[in-house]
Amino acid sequence: MPTTKCVAFHSYKGGTGKTTIAANCAALLAKKGFKVALLDLDVYAPSLYTYFGSEPRKWLNDYLLGDAAVEDVMTDVTETVREYTRKYDAGGRVQDGGRLWLGFCSMRKEEVYKLDSSTAESSKSQLRRFILLREQLISNYDLDYIIIDTSPGIRYWSINALAVADALFLTLKMGDIDIEGTNKLASEIYSSLTKYGTRSFLLLNRVAGYCVPEAHFAGSDDVRMAVTEEGDSADIAGVLAGKTGMEVISSIPCYCDIQFSRKEFLTALVQPGHPFTKQVERLIEAVQIKV
Ligand SMILES: Nc1ncnc2c1ncn2[C@@H]1O[C@H](COP(=O)(O)OP(=O)(O)O)[C@@H](O)[C@H]1O
Ligand SMILES: [Mg+2]
Repeated sequence: MPTTKCVAFHSYKGGTGKTTIAANCAALLAKKGFKVALLDLDVYAPSLYTYFGSEPRKWLNDYLLGDAAVEDVMTDVTETVREYTRKYDAGGRVQDGGRLWLGFCSMRKEEVYKLDSSTAESSKSQLRRFILLREQLISNYDLDYIIIDTSPGIRYWSINALAVADALFLTLKMGDIDIEGTNKLASEIYSSLTKYGTRSFLLLNRVAGYCVPEAHFAGSDDVRMAVTEEGDSADIAGVLAGKTGMEVISSIPCYCDIQFSRKEFLTALVQPGHPFTKQVERLIEAVQIKV
């Protein structure tokens, strides 16, 4: 049985890129041959559904409330990954071993309320179910990775997600960073988790970068790094790392085509030559070494 690594993406503010990076990371890990489960634990504003669009038999909400089994809530979306593996992996290097399962949260407001406005007793039983979910995913699915997308800030389900993770990534959007808030998260929440062995890292997203039209980098291996205001990003990264004591695991530039695309999609699968894809690849390599 592999040693499963559980990684959670968190942030102080919303809109930092948690979902985008979590979804792309999970898809690319599966493409590389790993067995991956991606969980939408942003129970207050679920959004992974928009990337994969497949209807689950049951929602994670049902599992947490004790109304569904693990196999009813995990949707196998491996075919979505295979479609692109076949298309792009020339030279017969198709890695068939990779698998990707998704656990979706319901967007229905009644379902959200049920998880949020529970009594102390039912909160406790939901938390037990959540810990059981992690155990069942590991034992029944033989996973290499569990990737968890969370809600921003200090909220019940975010903290639960962080508590079951082996590593957490505090995602920051450059240009819109609340240094005090981030520091508060690091000192009040993360420090107690890291005491018990959780690894925590800063993940800088949307640092100043190029806005290169797709045609210019198609097929290129060149990763375009931030140039303009690079110094600013490095300064802020330095200040944050110093204040929080957390290492920066990756700095991902802002790509206009991703920011302004009309529909969210898995750039890492659909555009293998995109510099964002190269960045996700680097992040995955860092995860393999450091987590
Ligand atoms: N590196 C990036 N470059 C450009 N746009 C990005 C980047 N990362 C995320 N985005 C965009 O930022 C928006 C917010 O990202 P999202 O992943 O939904 O954030 P969160 O899950 O933290 O709320 C989305 O429209 C997404 O496409
Ligand atoms: Mg999100």
